[in-house]
Amino acid sequence: MFIDIHTHILYDVDDGSQDIETSLLMIQKAVADGTESIILTPHVQSRPQKVERSVHHEHFEILKKRVKEEGIHVNLYLGAEVLYRSHLEPDWQELSLAGTKYVLLEFSMQDLSPVEDVVYDVTRMGFIPIVAHVERYPYVDFELMRKIKDLGAMIQVNATSILGLDKKVHKKHPMKMLKEGLVDIIASDTHHITYREPNLLDCYTYLKKYFPQEDLEKWFYLNAKKILSDKNT
Ligand SMILES: [Fe+2]
Repeated sequence: MFIDIHTHILYDVDDGSQDIETSLLMIQKAVADGTESIILTPHVQSRPQKVERSVHHEHFEILKKRVKEEGIHVNLYLGAEVLYRSHLEPDWQELSLAGTKYVLLEFSMQDLSPVEDVVYDVTRMGFIPIVAHVERYPYVDFELMRKIKDLGAMIQVNATSILGLDKKVHKKHPMKMLKEGLVDIIASDTHHITYREPNLLDCYTYLKKYFPQEDLEKWFYLNAKKILSDKNT
């Protein structure tokens, strides 16, 4: 079973799914692969963001209704993927994953960003940052990853990077991160159905050859489950 905490399945809000039918296909694929819960994390504070936050809520309610009508069994939650911008102060609670204290935070892939300071500040505000696709930031080395984990952050890696499908990432890099015990969660960061599709099962099947079941469960399910259980406390 999988929980996907990073997806661009919510329709017509960013550079992910552009219509509700595509969103439904993406959800069906994820569910057929064994996904029980999905957090929808549209881009916020970054260029792909097309609409105001209120539209995320509107589309989320419409999508949930359609999923129910289609008889698809899956738990859907709303979150966001927030790009760090030095001049903006996001409403972290509004943008958190499923209303918990966990926030999905991304950084620029080109410009050196103060990852450690931001993680520290967000943590001080009472939130737990999950740093999105850490393997994509060339300026974040293993030492910095350890530092931000010590500060209380969680590290998310994209399944696409592990599978070697992200041209910007050398496949060996995320594999080494996994081996070094630096990764908390693997997510799809899915954007479409024919490319960057929901791919947790592919990644799980690939990693099964290299890692014990215990590790896989943590990366694909248990650590994400902890986030969602925070919702009920
Ligand atoms: Fe993303």
